[in-house]
Amino acid sequence: MEKLYDANLQQAVSQEMTRLDFRLGILGCGRWGLNHVRTAHGLFGDKLALVSDMNGGTAAKVAQISSSIKFTSDPDQLIDSRDINAAIVATPAETHYELARKLLESGKHVLVEKPITLEVSQARELVALAEEKKLKLMVGHVLLYHPAVLKLKELLAAGKIGKLQYIYSNRLNFGTVRTEENILWSFAPHDISIIQYLTGTKPVYVSARGASFLQSNIEDSTITHLSFPGNIHAHIFVSWLHPFKEQRLVVIGDKGMLVFEDSAPKDKLRFYPKGFSKNGRALEKFDGDFEVVPHDNKQPLAEEHLHFFKCVTENVEPLTDGRHAVEVLEVLKLAEESLKAERGKRE
Ligand SMILES: NC(=O)c1ccc[n+]([C@@H]2O[C@H](COP(=O)([O-])OP(=O)(O)OC[C@H]3O[C@@H](n4cnc5c(N)ncnc54)[C@H](O)[C@@H]3O)[C@@H](O)[C@H]2O)c1
Repeated sequence: MEKLYDANLQQAVSQEMTRLDFRLGILGCGRWGLNHVRTAHGLFGDKLALVSDMNGGTAAKVAQISSSIKFTSDPDQLIDSRDINAAIVATPAETHYELARKLLESGKHVLVEKPITLEVSQARELVALAEEKKLKLMVGHVLLYHPAVLKLKELLAAGKIGKLQYIYSNRLNFGTVRTEENILWSFAPHDISIIQYLTGTKPVYVSARGASFLQSNIEDSTITHLSFPGNIHAHIFVSWLHPFKEQRLVVIGDKGMLVFEDSAPKDKLRFYPKGFSKNGRALEKFDGDFEVVPHDNKQPLAEEHLHFFKCVTENVEPLTDGRHAVEVLEVLKLAEESLKAERGKRE
């Protein structure tokens, strides 16, 4: 088995695996799906029982990870397979609803990639179906399994930065340009998911603006503004037309600020004791040096897989369950409507 973790954890997982019923399948072996295959094979070994991609050409890439992984180019074979009881869906967004529905109908727990579906009604249907079948429905909002994000949430809850005021997230790259979806749908689910998690509430106002340069009506860059109850505000800037990768989350409170820069080579999470205090009518600045905040060094995708494993085998509700994903999708839809209205004005 490929080494992903420290030996003790890997051994503990292997021992659990032999005891518990978890037989995994993966649908979709494209750019991201292969990461799922690599991670699942490393963690679960031959409990990754079957993978499938309708493009038979991906079989060779799967074989490069391990020649022992069984592959089929017929997705229905995986959906109907009795050799698995849980599946990961890593196919394009427009296929999520149908594939997740079929998998749930055939009695499998599902971890579907983000965005859960393209329509809120479809996502709600999946949530209801999973509940009816007593199956787990988890969504791949992988950043909620990032130890720095979990640490950030813990610090917020402990009052480290006082009252939460403003959050912004930059997710920028000279990246993969998609033809079937714009940058909002491609990148922003991550940021919405994190912001929802940190605020613990839904926005009362969402507006978005964007610009298309490479393809007509497919935005390359968007900025989405969100307002939450309690005078909390946020914006999300996403772009695949940017000279370098920047993944920066800034969280501002009235007693300090936290910065999580996933694209930084080290010291990804920092606390800045900066802000303003009121002295009568005067505002007094406090401006201390930043401190690096230590956090666990674990791979988010592997953490996501281990969480899915725990949810299935111990009947635990996923952190990123269908309901969380529906809320993320609702915000995406509001942002998309706002973008479309603005697009109409540009044309
Ligand atoms: N969580 C993350 O950080 C993250 C990162 C990247 C992508 N994603 C998500 O993962 C999903 C896949 O993205 P990608 O970049 O790998 O896309 P991709 O286009 O590279 O790969 C998709 C693969 O799915 C296969 N496929 C399409 N329809 C299928 C079907 N009905 N049955 C079986 N296989 C099918 C295609 O042949 C292709 O190999 C998307 O939903 C994307 O949003 C998530």
